[in-house]
Amino acid sequence: MFSWKDSSGGSCSLCVHTLSALLVFSLCCFISGNSDINRAKDLMVKYPLIDGHNDIALQLRILHNNHLSKINLTHIHKVATDISRLRAGHVQTQMFAAYVLCGAQQMDAVRLTLEQIDVVRRMCTENPEFELVTSTQELNASMMKHKIACLISIEGGHSIDSSLPTLRMFYHLGVRSLTLTHSCNTPWAETSSEIYDVFKRRNNSLTTFGKAVVDEMNRLGMIVDLSHTSWGTASAVLMHSKAPVIFSHSSSFAVCNHSRNVPDWLLHKLKENGGLIMVNFYTPFVSCKNKANVSNLADHFDHIKKVIGAKSIGIGGDFDGAKNYPEGLEDVSKYPVIIQELLKRKWTEEELADVLRRNFLRVFEEVEKVRDQLSWKQPSEEEIPLQEVENPCRLVLQMPVVKKVFSNQSPSFRAVGSLNLLYLSSVLLFFFFFYVLT
Ligand SMILES: *[C@@H]1O[C@H](CO)[C@@H](O)[C@H](O)[C@H]1NC(C)=O
Ligand SMILES: *[C@@H]1O[C@H](CO)[C@@H](O)[C@H](O)[C@H]1NC(C)=O
Ligand SMILES: *[C@@H]1O[C@H](CO)[C@@H](O)[C@H](O)[C@H]1NC(C)=O
Ligand SMILES: *[C@@H]1O[C@H](CO)[C@@H](O)[C@H](O)[C@H]1NC(C)=O
Ligand SMILES: *[C@@H]1O[C@H](CO)[C@@H](O)[C@H](O)[C@H]1NC(C)=O
Ligand SMILES: [Zn+2]
Repeated sequence: MFSWKDSSGGSCSLCVHTLSALLVFSLCCFISGNSDINRAKDLMVKYPLIDGHNDIALQLRILHNNHLSKINLTHIHKVATDISRLRAGHVQTQMFAAYVLCGAQQMDAVRLTLEQIDVVRRMCTENPEFELVTSTQELNASMMKHKIACLISIEGGHSIDSSLPTLRMFYHLGVRSLTLTHSCNTPWAETSSEIYDVFKRRNNSLTTFGKAVVDEMNRLGMIVDLSHTSWGTASAVLMHSKAPVIFSHSSSFAVCNHSRNVPDWLLHKLKENGGLIMVNFYTPFVSCKNKANVSNLADHFDHIKKVIGAKSIGIGGDFDGAKNYPEGLEDVSKYPVIIQELLKRKWTEEELADVLRRNFLRVFEEVEKVRDQLSWKQPSEEEIPLQEVENPCRLVLQMPVVKKVFSNQSPSFRAVGSLNLLYLSSVLLFFFFFYVLT
């Protein structure tokens, strides 16, 4: 008769042994995995993250038309960023992008940018968890107060409409960084993208006016951001800028050859400049595929460290700028996962403290120092040549020249002519009634 006990007694005891060994092993794994993530989190408590780029403001516009009264910033649906997840991810400072699409160039880019600055300012001043900061001193102080500090950046040079006074006014609203281009060329700088077919150029990737923009940003103490610019523009800026610059959300071209990433030769120039590359998490830039994992992302950190060292690296997750982030890194609460992976890859706590916040603080302090050294300079009155920006939406602010009423002129002049006629007849009508009534 078949006996379960007799026939399987021996192997069962083996089985029990294997089972307990397995149990011990997986328990070990669990504990060590657990202690790894805890080690990452402990490190991030000491050195909470300063992240270079986040697009929640764009999502607030798209999903809620900036109506903050209708949402609870602690938990926001359908996005990757809110207060509870920033807290869980040990994000202490977030650079929030005021971004408007390239389609607004030479149209209402300035208005839209103001509205995006407004929504970031509202978010960061109406909620006590946040604090809007504009200097390294305020940034440091916000950490002591356990606030999430907000820095404002503008993403895309088209937002200043080729105007240095506009750039200065943005500075006064608290903007401390400008990405020189988004996916479109401006009349003075060149993008890495081929999506838009505007302001085509063969060379001269940073024009005379472009250099004036960089000079004025150096004078004001605004961080120049080279993410999205072409390599030509980036290297011209690296030659020209007196202050260190950042790539706020770009990864390594050697690891994934996407045009938004930075090649090694440019990394060397960045290191000479004292600047920072803040690694982007967006899957297509990480793996060049539509799937990625934390290991693929860590490869970018490893490679850049090998080429220019850990002192030139930061983090710019780019959450809410797009959909599709690596497995396990889907939102701003997941930053400890990449720190855990880098610890596993033998990055030292000193190196990670630099990557998490000290490198950015060093760059921002250097930008402020250059500003102080340039305090003798007057605001720049450099103007872009009119022929480079002439378009129907750009009015040259002068008294209109009134031409003869009835002539063969352009429709706009005829409009001016008929306006004059209207004015004349209302004056006549007025006098008519005046005399009739008195
Ligand atoms: C937002 O949600 C949090 C937690 O769910 C709650 O404590 C808080 O009161 C809410 N805030 C508002 C303004 O409703
Ligand atoms: C900010 O804090 C860092 C690190 O604690 C320190 O090195 C730096 O001097 C501080 N900067 C300012 C302006 O307070
Ligand atoms: C830039 O291109 C123009 C023609 O488009 C040419 O005349 C000029 O020499 C070029 N400049 C440089 C520095 O290559
Ligand atoms: C990236 O590499 C792939 C294959 O190696 C190649 O087909 C592609 O053209 C490259 N892309 C760029 C932007 O260099
Ligand atoms: C991550 O993806 C790569 C393929 O790109 C794969 O070789 C590797 O095993 C994956 N790593 C983890 C930890 O899943
Ligand atoms: Zn971007």
